[in-house]
Amino acid sequence: MTASASVSRLRLRQPDDWHLHLRDGAMLAAVTPETTRHFGRAIIMPNLVPPVVTSDQAAAYHARILAARPEGSAFEPLMTLYLTEGSQPEDLRRGVECGLIKAVKLYPAGATTNSESGVRDFDKAMPVLETLAELGVPLCVHGEVTDPDIDIFDREAVFIDRVLDPLRRRLPHLRVIMEHVTTRQGVDYVRSAEQGLAATLTTHHLIINRNHLLVGGVKPHYYCLPVAKREEHRLALVAAATSGDGRFFLGTDSAPHATHNKEAACGCAGIFTAPNTMSCLAHVFEAEGALDKLEAFTSLSGPAFYGLPANEAWLTLVKRPEPVSYPARVSVAEGQTVTVFDPGFPLFWDVESIMPS
Ligand code: DOR
Ligand code: ZN
Repeated sequence: MTASASVSRLRLRQPDDWHLHLRDGAMLAAVTPETTRHFGRAIIMPNLVPPVVTSDQAAAYHARILAARPEGSAFEPLMTLYLTEGSQPEDLRRGVECGLIKAVKLYPAGATTNSESGVRDFDKAMPVLETLAELGVPLCVHGEVTDPDIDIFDREAVFIDRVLDPLRRRLPHLRVIMEHVTTRQGVDYVRSAEQGLAATLTTHHLIINRNHLLVGGVKPHYYCLPVAKREEHRLALVAAATSGDGRFFLGTDSAPHATHNKEAACGCAGIFTAPNTMSCLAHVFEAEGALDKLEAFTSLSGPAFYGLPANEAWLTLVKRPEPVSYPARVSVAEGQTVTVFDPGFPLFWDVESIMPS
């Protein structure tokens, strides 16, 4: 990457998204181009209905994603399996050995959207977790407890103490990615680990805190899980993202839901950031005086943790004199839309081009 004191142009390796929801059917068709426009690869979340549990299901979903790419796109979906208490180690091994499966996703049962088939009893998941550790394949963790007695704002911190730390002690060779970390405790826990632990950070958690969600009226398009926390936590996330520490990298958790399903009495969790993530991140990193760390966060540290090369292509960001506009909504089908994340400030950084090399 090249950057100087007052930077208005930035060239970086093409970014990847290490945590993405593409859904299926009409939604898949609508949102896939929004990611392929800027990103080279993405770790694809398996929480479809029904979930992607077996390698055969992942292969079929992989084919549907490839078919949804715009013509000429070289975007590579990196597939995951949804861990259930019935997941089969041999099926996982086959999926990994043929190069299809890049990670396994752990949802504690009931933690979030479509997580009902997730894990309740970790003893039942041990054979698969042991296989994962043996293969060196990461476990991507939705790190929230689901105990109704635990306050929603504390669920990540409690998960670390009650579930994650004991699991990592039980399986010290298991490689773990704490997904969408939202708290200072999460950041500190990752920093405290000697090896085998990393975290993804989302675009939106670097920008909003819980006041944005709740002050002046509830803003359903800022609702996601884990829910945004206090400002002190957002600041810890920004410090981690902009530090250049390779244990923290981008996983947008771009999670499209139809607009009417979010603007509802019981609105769905999920924020759709795929279209404007690179503009938002350049803004955040510039505000921190850390544009020189953006490439590590979006394009280098993720591949390194997954043992993959960085993308060959390059992306150029330019700072425009006037704000860049993004559509407020993306059309899905039959009048349905998905609402695009509004960072609440004008964006000046624009993706000018993607060049093959
Ligand atoms: O806000 C979220 N939305 N968090 C998740 O963990 C799941 C995701 C979804 O699938 O909509
Ligand atoms: Zn997610």
